[in-house]
Amino acid sequence: MEKFQIHGGRRLSGVVEVSGSKNSALPAMAAALLTDEPVVLEHVPGVRDIRTMGRLLADIGAAVEAQGSRYSIQAGCITSPEAPYDLVKTMRASSLVLGPLVARAGRARVSLPGGCAIGARPINLHLSGLEKLGARIRQEHGYIEAQAPGGLTGAQIHFERITVTGTEDLLMAAVLAGGETVLANAACEPEIVDLAELLVKMGARIQGAGTSTIRILGVPELAGATHRIIPDRIEAGTFLIAGAITGGDLEVRGARPDHLGALLDKLRGAGVDCAAGPEGSIRVRAPSGLKAVDVTTQEFPGFATDLQAQWMALMTQAEGASIITEMIFENRFLHALELARMGADISTQGHRAVVRGPTPLSGAAVIASDLRASASLVLAGLVARGETVVDRVYHIDRGYERIERKLSAAGASIRRL
Ligand code: EPZ
Repeated sequence: MEKFQIHGGRRLSGVVEVSGSKNSALPAMAAALLTDEPVVLEHVPGVRDIRTMGRLLADIGAAVEAQGSRYSIQAGCITSPEAPYDLVKTMRASSLVLGPLVARAGRARVSLPGGCAIGARPINLHLSGLEKLGARIRQEHGYIEAQAPGGLTGAQIHFERITVTGTEDLLMAAVLAGGETVLANAACEPEIVDLAELLVKMGARIQGAGTSTIRILGVPELAGATHRIIPDRIEAGTFLIAGAITGGDLEVRGARPDHLGALLDKLRGAGVDCAAGPEGSIRVRAPSGLKAVDVTTQEFPGFATDLQAQWMALMTQAEGASIITEMIFENRFLHALELARMGADISTQGHRAVVRGPTPLSGAAVIASDLRASASLVLAGLVARGETVVDRVYHIDRGYERIERKLSAAGASIRRL
């Protein structure tokens, strides 16, 4: 099993480039199932989840060609409208094929994802939304079978709670449904807007993406399109925190500052100088001492849950007590125990963690439990005294493209074992 070996204590400086967004590219790839023409996606990140989605689409019958960060996907015909357990268990986002398959092929068989390290993460809202659009849903042998042989029909769908992939799944189902669909209490994340832009290029009629009410007027068919995926705001945010935690002076290039508002506010509150430059560059300069700042995770435009673990690592180096409240997932503090093994002073109770700092961290052997938790352990390793070995880095490879190379180029001592 691969590991990262990190020697802490080096300031990061120079430039680091942001890759395309994993969480935007995944639904965009699934959207290619909605047409028999080629969909070309540019700026797709070279991460494991993307390769998993590529395999899933190929199993379903699509021709998937990748050349660097450019993917061409053509689902000429759907030969097997199924997402098997083997793939779904390694990547929950596999359930994003459910909506497009029912819309295009009239049926889908998708394994139910099991529990997850960060929370239960059910997909009940995807399913009840599809039922409203007229699909018949059955659960058997751990699989969801959805059928709509006569096609889907537009409906009013009010999400009980905001769900990102749920909104994406139903958006993709509704673009081919007859008549109008309204998605209320929809997610407003930039990844939803990006997906809607791709679908509109393919011929869909969508209004309101990026707000909590999305209106879709179904069309009989969609065509191919070419689309450039937005920059990964979570990768960019992780690098901004890396600059700040190492006392560095780092330029994060190719980001979208408008997607990072909540994080930039909090970084400034902690005393970090963040300056937006031309073409999506953000220069982050650390102060001589960081100040503790509380965060509460929320849906966009609030503070992203996917940056909570990295923020916790940063707060171990800040003066004072910071309260971190996790509102999206019920069990997303596994990194706290590993950070504590490195010397952090963190107490957790329910969905709240209190970090008292600054505490010097010392290098240790730690285990990554999920994607963003691994990123927080890498950040802690960058500032810890001595050697940190982060085990199970396959988690980090799911969502960060060659993170060790990007960090080394900015002066970190990190290598893959
Ligand atoms: C997306 O997951 C992201 N994944 C996650 O990123 C991210 O953490 C999350 O949104 C929140 O921003 C992708 O985009 C591929 P949700 P998703 O449905 O869509 C509950 C990363 O590290 N819920 O918005 O699965 C759910 O349990 C990953 O890159 C239901 O109860 O998250 C959670 O508590 C991790 N029923 C809350 O809603 C449902 O049917 C929000 O989840 C759906 C969700």
